[in-house]
Amino acid sequence: MAREFDDVAVYYDNTFTHAATGKRLRERVWHFTTKILGQQTGKALELNAGTGEDALWLTQQGWQVLATDISREMLLVAQQKKAAAGIPPENSPFFQTLALEELDKLNESNFDLVFSNFGGLNCLNPEALQQAGAAIAQKLPSGGHCIAVVMSRFCWWESLYFLIKGKFAAILRRRAKGAIQAPLDTQTTISTWYYSPQTFSKVLAGEQLVQRACRPIGFWLPPSYLEPFFASRPKALAMLHWLEKHLTPNWVAPGADHFLIHFTKK
Ligand SMILES: C[S@@+](CC[C@H](N)C(=O)[O-])C[C@H]1O[C@@H](n2cnc3c(N)ncnc32)[C@H](O)[C@@H]1O
Repeated sequence: MAREFDDVAVYYDNTFTHAATGKRLRERVWHFTTKILGQQTGKALELNAGTGEDALWLTQQGWQVLATDISREMLLVAQQKKAAAGIPPENSPFFQTLALEELDKLNESNFDLVFSNFGGLNCLNPEALQQAGAAIAQKLPSGGHCIAVVMSRFCWWESLYFLIKGKFAAILRRRAKGAIQAPLDTQTTISTWYYSPQTFSKVLAGEQLVQRACRPIGFWLPPSYLEPFFASRPKALAMLHWLEKHLTPNWVAPGADHFLIHFTKK
């Protein structure tokens, strides 16, 4: 798992974080996160932090961030971005190599927020997800927040794309039983479990977390692998972004590329 993400770390920001679709999708995540958290700050634990884009953003919002990821190479890029951003070394965010499966080994606790963006939790099978949920709950005080952005089990955009391409077997690929090998790039695939908001909530929340909200991320905005098509059609992408902001009711979350789901600890 670490190796696959190590291999893509050097170009992850170019192909996703700084790409036209990726930037717009993250803007939606930040929009909903800001709405949920308001002016609150405190201690944040970021899971599967990747190249640190959200860790830096949360820091700018006033959070003290411990950002973790299984991939050392992803975190190396994150460290470089922190240095380039001119954040003093003694300030957060701090980066630590840690697998989601080892969360219970993290000594620190009492975080006010646990945050996981763009599908890191899709790398866990249901049993591991349940364990991660229990570990997350342990790290939060009563009323503490958990916000996760998860790849959904059905994405209408993706189904339409595969239909147009005549790739009929792929239309419902996310609905496969168990893991599917999802491409990270043209050469690398990774075992991925797609979850509906309902199943994800049931598995992660356990007895300790209560679901508060579920929001669509990428209902009109296309999946990031369509970047090559949309990069040369900025007007079309801007229009889809407008639709995403103004004409996307919350109830369509199960049909979007990702959903953002918010829990609080009991
Ligand atoms: C699609 S990237 C998302 C990165 C980042 N959150 C973002 O928003 O750009 C998924 C991340 O999950 C990490 N990851 C995958 N499996 C993991 C695991 N078992 N434990 C911890 N991190 C994991 C990968 O290394 C990668 O950085």
